[in-house]
Amino acid sequence: MKRVVILTGAGISAESGLGTFRDVGGLWTQYDLEEVATPEGFARNPKKVHDFYNARRANCAGARPHAGHAALARLARAPKIALTLVTQNVDDLHERAGSPEVIHMHGQLDHALCGACGHRWEAAPVMTPDDLCPACQHPATRPDVVWFGEMPYHMEMIFDRLAGADLFVAIGTSGSVYPAAGFVDAARDAGAETLELNLGPSDNRRAFATGRYGPASEIVPLWVADLAGV
Ligand code: APR
Repeated sequence: MKRVVILTGAGISAESGLGTFRDVGGLWTQYDLEEVATPEGFARNPKKVHDFYNARRANCAGARPHAGHAALARLARAPKIALTLVTQNVDDLHERAGSPEVIHMHGQLDHALCGACGHRWEAAPVMTPDDLCPACQHPATRPDVVWFGEMPYHMEMIFDRLAGADLFVAIGTSGSVYPAAGFVDAARDAGAETLELNLGPSDNRRAFATGRYGPASEIVPLWVADLAGV
């Protein structure tokens, strides 16, 4: 059984029409991340933050997974492969492509979180600062998305899987945000092979033993076919 850990980033959703963050025209060139992706920004102007995520939720609803997402869903069911799929993305394209288990380390657009009691529920398409938590009735609802300065989710499980990996593959990520950018180092130190699949060499390329470059919708299915024959 080959234990494979994959980390995906915004680049795997780019061809589905969802913006990346740091490419030309990316989300962080259009919005100030301090204002829409930090707890301080949310405290200052919760409506601005909800409107930012409402727009991304609407964009995601209109998007479709592509052949790269579908290939990863096939890989999860391939014989002799034990796959862990970790994503930095908050969209649900992996799930809609059929991936059975997706670890969302930065949360999910379609989940809501109560800042007062910690309750989680399925987010409405449009959220506002006046929404009441269905559990404690406080108007303290926020997107269940991990902001800068907050601890990503499922870290212990992720590092356990990295410690036992035979192969670590990063797909469509610039490797510029930790802790995700350090996953390759943990995997390599545990003896795993490392591969980067990206549009072009990322800022983190020197950490990987090998890289294959091109659009994810093209290179991911080719790599999955090479690895597992599916
Ligand atoms: N196919 C493959 N890779 C692509 C494609 C594509 N069609 N288009 C873009 N890319 C690559 C870019 O070359 C870049 O290296 O995807 C990467 C996207 O990098 P970022 O925009 O930095 O996105 P990501 O790495 O996911 O950001 C990490 O930063 O802002 C936070 O929480 C946010 O999860 C995000 C994290």
